[in-house]
Amino acid sequence: MRSPDSPINVGLLGLGVVGGGVLSALSRNGSTVPRSVGRPIRVARILVRDPDKPRDVEFDRQILTADAASVLKDPSIDIVAEAMGGEYPALDYIRTALEAGKSVVTANKEVMAKHGPELLELAARRGAHLLFEASVGGGIPILGPLTRSLRGNEIRGIRAIINGTTNYILTKMSHEGTEFADALREAQELGYAEADPTNDVEGIDAGYKLAILASLAFHTRVAAEDIHLEGISRLTGRDFRYARELGYVIKLVAIATDRDGSVEARVHPALVPEDAPLAKVDGVLNAVEVEGDLVDRVLFHGRGAGSMPTASAMVGDILEVAWSMANGLPAAGFLTLDREVSLCPISDLVTRYYIRATVLDRAGVLAQMASILGNLQISIASVIQKEVGLNDGTAELVITTYHSRERDVQQALRELAGLDVVKEIGNLLRVEE
Ligand code: NAP
Ligand code: HSE
Repeated sequence: MRSPDSPINVGLLGLGVVGGGVLSALSRNGSTVPRSVGRPIRVARILVRDPDKPRDVEFDRQILTADAASVLKDPSIDIVAEAMGGEYPALDYIRTALEAGKSVVTANKEVMAKHGPELLELAARRGAHLLFEASVGGGIPILGPLTRSLRGNEIRGIRAIINGTTNYILTKMSHEGTEFADALREAQELGYAEADPTNDVEGIDAGYKLAILASLAFHTRVAAEDIHLEGISRLTGRDFRYARELGYVIKLVAIATDRDGSVEARVHPALVPEDAPLAKVDGVLNAVEVEGDLVDRVLFHGRGAGSMPTASAMVGDILEVAWSMANGLPAAGFLTLDREVSLCPISDLVTRYYIRATVLDRAGVLAQMASILGNLQISIASVIQKEVGLNDGTAELVITTYHSRERDVQQALRELAGLDVVKEIGNLLRVEE
């Protein structure tokens, strides 16, 4: 039996960008921590792949280990803070820690998006905490407010920009006219995008985060693989210029909406009105807008990644668990994800659209295109024609529509692509008012 003022021991899994931030923050703010918790907090052991690697943080290197069992099986470790990333072995380590009755704090969106409900049930069975604020929006406090402060609301929807790498790339393309490949290279040079940027650029990272947000908001299980995902690699500088002419910016949006018992969840680039709050979220910043029946709309905005912002979220969770332990309180699991809902297929979506096409620049072309759209009940809101300067007799048409059904728009695109006068469908984007 440990004395009531003995330290609460943390086993840190990972000492990279986030783990290093957690270790520094706990040391930096160490003097204030015990006061708020009532007992000292000590990082007792740190799991890494390579204990001999040089590290930027100062600490007693004797606590480094490459042996996971020496953290997970040590009865003196009270809280496991996972900042390794990836699905495996992180999932196995989190399970092992929870099975042993240890509380877990994690930044791992992939694990929480794919296995969150199962892990939360395991934590509840073992009387342990499982907190994951850092897994969505880095330093932005969003999961705490969503599950506590806003829980009196019926949440109607979430609209978010939750990937900093893609938001940085899109901001460069929009403000400086940089093309995608160059903006991506810059993001990699600045350390925002990884060497393999697929997860960010293809919307997979944002999809994991939206799965977590939607599950918590709608008290259900929204699986990451059921979310419609489209990335940003097919956007060109011309799309940004045309969007601006129309009064929009282009953002990678993550949207989840409760449609009377069925949930619509999607991640894709979209035109957003330039005066909308999300349009002003630039660079690596993230923002999450939540709409509830009582609160109306609230916007959470801030640094969605980075060492210290993400550490801020993880340390907050560690302190919350430590405070419960110091005060002898049980882990109170009030997250219920048991609501039965179906997921709307993307073909059922009704929204406005932007279509960019290269066409022969001659009489009657627009009439043929308008006829296809009209036959499918797709009403045109605006048309812009641009000569693209190739001197090959073609022009670029940008058509925006009023609200239309996705499946009709996709059918229209197939029919438009089949016209002799249409050389190429350049892009189809959704317009989110
Ligand atoms: P990172 O810099 O690559 O660090 C990963 C750390 O985990 C390293 O210290 C590495 O050890 C250790 N590690 C990885 N695999 C291991 C294994 N199999 N066994 C033992 N140690 C292992 O990653 P990060 O950017 O800090 O991200 C960590 C987590 O936070 C991820 O889930 C990520 O999605 C999430 N997150 C990151 C950010 C961000 O801004 N970076 C923001 C929000 C959430 P070595 O040092 O020896 O290689
Ligand atoms: N790759 C992520 C991003 C890091 O760019 O937002 C934070 O989860």
